[in-house]
Amino acid sequence: MSVLHKILGNIVGRKNPIADTAQALPNNTKEDSMDTSTTQSFTLRNNEDGSEFTLPVLKGSVGPSVIDVRALYKQTGMFTYDPGFTSTGSTDSAITYIDGDQGILLHRGYSIEDLASKSDFMETCYLLWYGELPNKQQKEEFVNTVTNHTMLHDQITYFFRGFRRDAHPMAIMVGVVGALSAFYHDSTDITDPKQRQIAAMRLIAKMPTIAAWTYKYSIGQPFVYPKNSLSYSGNFLQMVFGVPTEDYVVNPILERAMDRIFILHADHEQNASTSTVRIAGSSGANPFACISAGIASLWGPAHGGANEAVLEMLEQIGHKDNIPEYVARAKDKDDPFRLMGFGHRVYKNFDPRAKIMREEAHKVLGELGVNDPKLELAMELEQIALNDPYFVERKLYPNVDFYSGIILSAMGFPTSMFTVLFALARTVGWITQWEEMIEDPSQKISRPRQLYVGHDQRPYTDLASR
Ligand code: SDX
Repeated sequence: MSVLHKILGNIVGRKNPIADTAQALPNNTKEDSMDTSTTQSFTLRNNEDGSEFTLPVLKGSVGPSVIDVRALYKQTGMFTYDPGFTSTGSTDSAITYIDGDQGILLHRGYSIEDLASKSDFMETCYLLWYGELPNKQQKEEFVNTVTNHTMLHDQITYFFRGFRRDAHPMAIMVGVVGALSAFYHDSTDITDPKQRQIAAMRLIAKMPTIAAWTYKYSIGQPFVYPKNSLSYSGNFLQMVFGVPTEDYVVNPILERAMDRIFILHADHEQNASTSTVRIAGSSGANPFACISAGIASLWGPAHGGANEAVLEMLEQIGHKDNIPEYVARAKDKDDPFRLMGFGHRVYKNFDPRAKIMREEAHKVLGELGVNDPKLELAMELEQIALNDPYFVERKLYPNVDFYSGIILSAMGFPTSMFTVLFALARTVGWITQWEEMIEDPSQKISRPRQLYVGHDQRPYTDLASR
């Protein structure tokens, strides 16, 4: 029983309507993959007094090992210092592995290339949550559970009406998702694995409805309700682009493209928004509040907001003749301009998702007969940047956001919806990472320390003497 569970004790929840349909609990155990038997260690020497401290090394199943510094403060009275966590592991995890130098991305051991070409988003959701690919029956039951929980409590429609029509869809999504705990309180007892699973299924199932309705609300059209006869991605498209006055025919090309885009955004290790979800969850906050926090973090232009920023950047550049000026600006430290969609904390090679997204962009635009000059501009910008020493030396390659906006724009989504779609797809990754954190018997509340550089204690001075 983790520390978290001991503190929270058992919260008795009401019987839950989808308890009996949710399948067996996830078996995403990870203890068997961390090698704690290793004798490898590092010795830290204090050169001032010659004292030495031994720090054990922990090895994972693949990728860099870690130096376990948990005892460092007790041994040395000092903290480690790593703003932005460029060299710090916050957890062990068995969900997603990224090799930034090789441009490798694995979900539960399966490559993103295989999943994007051979799997579908529902199967990828099952894989992330349960840790294994489903058999036929398991997949059917999972899809059935998700399909039958896409509706929202009708009172939630009033939440949308509280926003201005010109509210950014991400602002609406943060608010509505955070409010879900007020409606689905019977799946907020985080000490109950069954309730955690029900909350996860509800979030995966309802995010497309919430995302679609943020769009409908912003353009003044009526909400279109889910249709259980459609696939996850087809249903989403009909809720976004369908209208009550006529039947919506799902375009299979767009349906497949949407599904692949969701797969490419499903999870990505301990990125900023996932770490936000984990830290929020470490306090015992309910899953809906944690996912809402993740959505807020994803919104930033350095993170999930980059896809919207890429389109704005391409519109700002306007023509390929202007590219050299903007590449020069991106290199100028005094200029805040960055090449949006370029660079990544982990990938120092091509982001494998960007490669798949670029192929998809050509396919979708070709099949839709869309001749978007922004795609040509993006290709030209990519070539120029990839041959510029500044970008080559810093290993700045296009990331997942560089091409996604071009496809989404061609599919008819406004740029303000791009990060909403990212959040929709990433929800399965967030909630799976959250579940892994809750299940971790060593889990404690996340509470980083600091290097204090402010005033030492000083006497209070009365107003009259200031
Ligand atoms: C996502 O973490 C994830 O996994 C995120 C994500 C996911 O799936 O969850 O992959 C999704 O967020 C993708 C990233 C989307 N963001 C952008 O496209 C915004 C533009 N990119 C940059 O803001 C930046 O590259 C980051 C934020 C993505 C990464 O920043 P880092 O790792 O902190 O790198 P850095 O800022 O320290 O940059 C290293 C150098 C610096 O120059 P020097 O100080 O060495 O001279 O590269 C330069 C930076 O100035 N640099 C850029 C640049 N990105 C980095 N210069 C120009 N244009 C850029 N885009």
